[in-house]
Amino acid sequence: MTKAVILISGSGSNLQAFIDSVAAGELPVSIELVISNNADAYGLQRARLAGIATDYIDHRNFASRAEFDQAMMDRIDLAEPDIVILAGFMRIFTAEFVEHYSERLVNIHPSLLPKFPGTNTHRRAIDAAEKWHGVTIHFVVPEVDAGPIILQGRIPIRHNDTPESLQQRIHRVEHRLYPLAVKWFAEKRLSVQVDKVLLDGERSDMQLQSFDL
Ligand code: GRF
Repeated sequence: MTKAVILISGSGSNLQAFIDSVAAGELPVSIELVISNNADAYGLQRARLAGIATDYIDHRNFASRAEFDQAMMDRIDLAEPDIVILAGFMRIFTAEFVEHYSERLVNIHPSLLPKFPGTNTHRRAIDAAEKWHGVTIHFVVPEVDAGPIILQGRIPIRHNDTPESLQQRIHRVEHRLYPLAVKWFAEKRLSVQVDKVLLDGERSDMQLQSFDL
């Protein structure tokens, strides 16, 4: 069984989507551990309710990013994960951390990368009069909000959309697609070729999904 460690900082609705998919027998993954850098993260409660081990490591207790990352690696590696899943973890990692988990560290970003890396993605997509907005699930590389793309999901931006209404629909797409991307990983269907992720050895239409939400 593929072992996962999930890192969160906040509400953990994506964590919940993983918990629910595993419980429904749809995701052949064992969630070994959930770590937060914030003791109050609601996601920690979600994990405890599901009987999953939790820990929190407060970045403010470390003198440098490198020391925090080392403490994270030490804790994560005790769980011997096959995959480390960033699900709203609001810290940027050092290149050492990222390289330690090369091709087994995944992130979800609320935009159609390479468009709109960084924050305020929903507002920026509306302001740029984009037709589509979406989410990107990708392997993590040292550059922030970059890295080989596993799967993207998109929705049309409607004329009356606000950042809040878009965010709500984007979350629904996240909750459908993040477990799917991890399922592909667990089934060993993903391979990385230079900067592209292939599904079953080729670039597939399934890697860009449109939703009429
Ligand atoms: C998601 O919108 C994700 O795209 C971003 O952080 C948010 C996490 O939300 N990286 P939640 O904590 O899973 O509800």
